[in-house]
Amino acid sequence: MIIRPRRLRRTPAIRDMVRETGISVKDLIFPLFVKDGKGIKEPIPSMPGQFHFSTDMIIKEIDEIRSLGIPAVLLFGLPEKKDPVGSYAYKEDEAVQRSVSLIKDKFPDMVIITDVCLCEYTDHGHCGIIKDGQVDNDSTLEALSRTALSHAKAGSDFVAPSDMMDGRVEAIRSELDLNGFKETGIISYAVKYASSFYGPFREAADSAPKFGDRSGYQMDPANSNEAVKEALLDMEEGADMIMVKPALPYLDIVRRVREECLLPLVAYNVSGEYSMIKAAEHMGWMDGKRTMMEALICIKRAGADLIITYFAKEAARILNGKNQ
Ligand code: PBG
Repeated sequence: MIIRPRRLRRTPAIRDMVRETGISVKDLIFPLFVKDGKGIKEPIPSMPGQFHFSTDMIIKEIDEIRSLGIPAVLLFGLPEKKDPVGSYAYKEDEAVQRSVSLIKDKFPDMVIITDVCLCEYTDHGHCGIIKDGQVDNDSTLEALSRTALSHAKAGSDFVAPSDMMDGRVEAIRSELDLNGFKETGIISYAVKYASSFYGPFREAADSAPKFGDRSGYQMDPANSNEAVKEALLDMEEGADMIMVKPALPYLDIVRRVREECLLPLVAYNVSGEYSMIKAAEHMGWMDGKRTMMEALICIKRAGADLIITYFAKEAARILNGKNQ
């Protein structure tokens, strides 16, 4: 007798009934790049369909994101000026801080997450302060804490440190608490690999290191036990959610961290994962929309609760269409 698993795949209705994993617009977080200026909505060449926005243009964009049902955005800033210590990261009138207060003012229910890192703000492009040719961990912690505090003051719901310095979650938590921001959360990029999949983002955020690479602080793609160590450490230090980044080439890591760590798990479907699908679609080599939805459901199946993705708006349109 032939055992027939195909019976459960016979019709769309049956397939819908036995589907093991779901995805909702509520799982999506949309990343946005903000800069100074007026009336700017500039396409990012390495990431087709993504833009740089000036603070005045961000409100319209957020309105659209909100009306699609996407609950949260992740903001990155491009400063007017860079310096060796990244001091524009914590200036209160920089693009990120101003955008956060504008958005909170207009749309208080929008969840705002802000990326905390120095790489967009340092003239050398590294994620911290350089001493003797290396990124110095402990002096970087102070700059990161100041940056996180400036975001909290502007109204961020969550700060998301992406620098990979040791001890930064604890440093940021105590800085926030000391200043009365007990309710501002931390989504830690706990498991962040030194990945070439960030290539398109570095053009978008003008944050490529001018010398060397980030292997001295971001993780080795060959490691998996270390991912669990990093996730548990950040949980102990007070992170509210944990992130794994990139997503698609690291789904085994998403699964392991899911099993070992009880915090909500966020996976970052990074710029390279986005742009590869866009490029293949452009060449006519793949169906962009189907590939996108497959990638997102696979990230959920691996165990992610939330997905940061440049596809959020496109995916939301498809998910909303389906539900109607
Ligand atoms: C900043 C940061 C990076 C990304 C998010 N935060 C770049 C990097 O570490 O080089 C990458 C995001 C993406 O590729 O979509 N440190």
